[in-house]
Amino acid sequence: MCGIVGYIGPQQATPIVLDGLRKLEYRGYDSAGIATINQGKINICRAEGKLLNLEKRLLDQPLIGHPGIGHTRWATHGRPSEINAHPHYAGGFVVVHNGIIENYLDLNTSLREQGHNFSSDTDTEIIAHWIEEHYKECGDFESAVRKALGDVRGAYAVAILSEQEPDKLIVAKQGSPLVVGQGQGEFFVASDIPAMLAHTRQMIFLEDGELVVFTAEAMAITTLAGMPVQKTPKTITWSPVMAEKDGYRHFMLKEIYEQPRAIADTIAGRIREDQAEVFLEDIGLEDVFLKGLERIYIVACGTSWHAALVGKFLLEKHARIPVEVDIASEFRYRDPLVTEKTLTLLISQSGETADTLAALREAHGKAGKVLAICNVVESSIARESDGVIYTHAGPEIGVASTKAFTTQLVALYLFTLYLGDLRGNLDQQNRRTMLDALVSLPGKIEECLKLDDAIEQAAHGLMQVHDFLYLGRGNQYPIALEGALKLKEISYIHAEGYPAGEMKHGPIALIDEQLPVVVIAPHNETFDKVAANMEEVQARGGRVVSVTDQAESGLADKAEIVFVTPKIIDDLMPVLTTIPLQLLSYHIAVLKGTDVDQPRNLAKRVTVE
Ligand code: M6R
Repeated sequence: MCGIVGYIGPQQATPIVLDGLRKLEYRGYDSAGIATINQGKINICRAEGKLLNLEKRLLDQPLIGHPGIGHTRWATHGRPSEINAHPHYAGGFVVVHNGIIENYLDLNTSLREQGHNFSSDTDTEIIAHWIEEHYKECGDFESAVRKALGDVRGAYAVAILSEQEPDKLIVAKQGSPLVVGQGQGEFFVASDIPAMLAHTRQMIFLEDGELVVFTAEAMAITTLAGMPVQKTPKTITWSPVMAEKDGYRHFMLKEIYEQPRAIADTIAGRIREDQAEVFLEDIGLEDVFLKGLERIYIVACGTSWHAALVGKFLLEKHARIPVEVDIASEFRYRDPLVTEKTLTLLISQSGETADTLAALREAHGKAGKVLAICNVVESSIARESDGVIYTHAGPEIGVASTKAFTTQLVALYLFTLYLGDLRGNLDQQNRRTMLDALVSLPGKIEECLKLDDAIEQAAHGLMQVHDFLYLGRGNQYPIALEGALKLKEISYIHAEGYPAGEMKHGPIALIDEQLPVVVIAPHNETFDKVAANMEEVQARGGRVVSVTDQAESGLADKAEIVFVTPKIIDDLMPVLTTIPLQLLSYHIAVLKGTDVDQPRNLAKRVTVE
């Protein structure tokens, strides 16, 4: 996690680096810092807490000069504090780092024996000292960095400046993301695309083991061992405005409201209406392989794992393939039965989640094929997979995932149609019905968003409680999990999601007048059973909040609050029932005064295992 930014060129570095850090604050906000070089000297400004604290400090202590580097931190080694804030300095070198140095204790001991003193508890500081130590021997910035990084084990994206060669910026990557932005007579580097969109859309995506030496006029990409690497910039289609709040109070609210557009974009160009067929441009897997598949593993973390659970319903029902769903951090530890007739389907908004990336490598290590559903173009997972289905959600900045989730559901639906057709399980008539429903989805989400005022009203009566239970059945069980996760993440209220039918096997003991139970109850084959669950809650004095798709459903007697979504086919209903749950979490969190876009302890990209 953590975000790093670098700039080299004729402009003052601080405003550019600071602006980049603002776009990366979703990656961590325990502390922030910037270093620039002015007249050959490194100057550093750091502050504990959010970027705002650094901005205030910079007013009293302006940092002039260029080049510059910056960092926003999600603490791993060393508590959140100013001394642990990056950049870290030693002997004329200054470093910002995203990742974890696994052998830092060994390196630290060795450096102490050589007389080095440390001013922080971080693993990062050893990089600066280690470069200093190598520089003493070789007298060359670039060689010292190469040698130091050669001694380091673990994950890193680093940006380094030196007083010895003040006109250079060196960056390197191993296991953590790093992107180069190419300007006119200037270069930018950052952990993620939005940090550079205001300056350039020409981006170069670095691979693990690559190192770049920049001057303002030129850059040289090589491997860590020094072999030249040729790369051409890619043009990114995201616009700078997409990474702004655009008048909304929070990114999360903006992203909730963007869902009709994000879903329309994810569908666009992928449907051939005359044949009722789906076309997936980057699928990268041969038909003969997909036809012969014997099993699919869907692997993901967090919200993306909830999408995976919905995907199992879709794929087993329409493509008739056994599907297992795994949490990525568990997958590789259970020696999964990946064979050449297995597809591992990864779902990741960021494409950088360390556990999901490790699952990818586990599957590849067993000669399995990997398909990714991903939102970030050219992310590590997208690049290493055999094929990708991109969600076109645009940049998601709010730490709580919203539009990424619903576009993942749509990508799974498209893949199901594709595979069901290919394997002869979905005839043209069925495909046409499913596609017609899909095309109507953005409009129906617009309808759901009209519930916003009613949901805000309801939030006033629910914000004081300490616990919530969410119930759903079938393909709505993952939505119950997702509703509970969203509430936990941003309002810090404890919430659990359960399959509705399991309530009587334990959670029913929790029910009293204090416990709101959110019951997702669309009119499908289990409606009556779920409605019976509501009566069971009511009979025990619990408070029922229901999400359903039919106003005259008799639920008014069974629930204190009822939110009614439009109707759609059952396979797409999870998308619609998600919307009121997102809004409910959002409004409760706003009323509680929490930090909606940057909830405590969380980071948008979990690039540590
Ligand atoms: O980028 P990914 O989809 O791989 O991220 C997975 C989870 O870290 C992510 O979904 C997390 O659970 C979100 N904070 C949920 O809102």
